[in-house]
Amino acid sequence: MQKNIAILPGDGIGPEVTEQAKKALDTIAELFGHQFHYTWGDIGAIAIDRTGEPFPDATFAVCSQADAILFGAVGHPKYDNDPNAPVRPEQGLLKMRKTLGLYANIRPVVTYPALLHLSPLREDRVKCADLVIFRELTGGIYFGKKWRSDDRTIASDECSYSILEIERITRLAFESARQRRGKVTLVDKANVLETSRLWRETVRQLAAADYPDIALDYLYVDNAAMQLIQNPRQFDVMLTENMFGDILSDEASVLTGSMGLLPSASVGSTTGLFEPIHGSYPQAAGLDIANPLAAILSAAMLLDYLALHTEANVVRDAVTAVLQSGSGTEDLQPATILKCSEVGALTVQHIQKIAQKAHSIA
Ligand code: IPM
Ligand code: MG
Repeated sequence: MQKNIAILPGDGIGPEVTEQAKKALDTIAELFGHQFHYTWGDIGAIAIDRTGEPFPDATFAVCSQADAILFGAVGHPKYDNDPNAPVRPEQGLLKMRKTLGLYANIRPVVTYPALLHLSPLREDRVKCADLVIFRELTGGIYFGKKWRSDDRTIASDECSYSILEIERITRLAFESARQRRGKVTLVDKANVLETSRLWRETVRQLAAADYPDIALDYLYVDNAAMQLIQNPRQFDVMLTENMFGDILSDEASVLTGSMGLLPSASVGSTTGLFEPIHGSYPQAAGLDIANPLAAILSAAMLLDYLALHTEANVVRDAVTAVLQSGSGTEDLQPATILKCSEVGALTVQHIQKIAQKAHSIA
């Protein structure tokens, strides 16, 4: 199979973790006889430094030609204390999501037995938790009209949603539930917000018409934040709007004790984008200490997106083997501490071993 893959390394540790993910993809290509053609684009602070724009047209062009996009992270401390900076790295991310039509952000949260002791929750609460968040990504308050009064003393951000925007992500969430444990929880604030009431009506109708086999329940977002801590195992697919999803997905990401392991996908009307959920971690940039496993698992999601499921599973099994080996980057507090690039190399070795074993059995 021939595929074009765009790589947007971004800022901070983005370049070093995406490099390890690329190594995993290269190994898969070699072992399974695929050709992946890579093109690179700038996004975030690095793009502002080079072009003045956080998501330049040239990067948009690279993305539009690609079958899938591998993305690192954006953000740089020089912008952190200045929310009024005229251009900010995050604007690149929002513009990319909007212009590429990436309306669904998918974040699976799984537990790894070898890492349960790193969870902030008691092991018995978090053990076997396995959920996925479907966060709407191109609507709501993030993209509504922003306004400030002439005297600068009043500000407003508008939140609006259309039935079309709600339906398209709802379908993806229900399809996912069908492949999983058959349960969707819609998270909203329908006791207060009109947009949330539209979400409930729309999701309820769609569920009744097309997904009667899926169990659907509803939670207010404040309650959902509490339930995630109290009993994360109850959740299968969580479906929610943009800002609630932003907040809940950060909360969910630390439950399993392994934020450095969590990948995500953003999909929609054009090409899919795959990225680790962690940020640019600028303090570690260039030190070769960041955990590349989330980026590598994002590459596995990318392979799934290209319908290369056997290959994706080989990558995931290789990551599990790395974790079981007792070696890893320092954030995992392993018996043997490895560098980012060494974890990449070890993953490649396991990919080779696992793929060979599969071939010899076949
Ligand atoms: C995320 C991030 C972004 C968001 C920021 C960087 C704009 O927090 O991807 O979750 O809020 O969507
Ligand atoms: Mg966030």
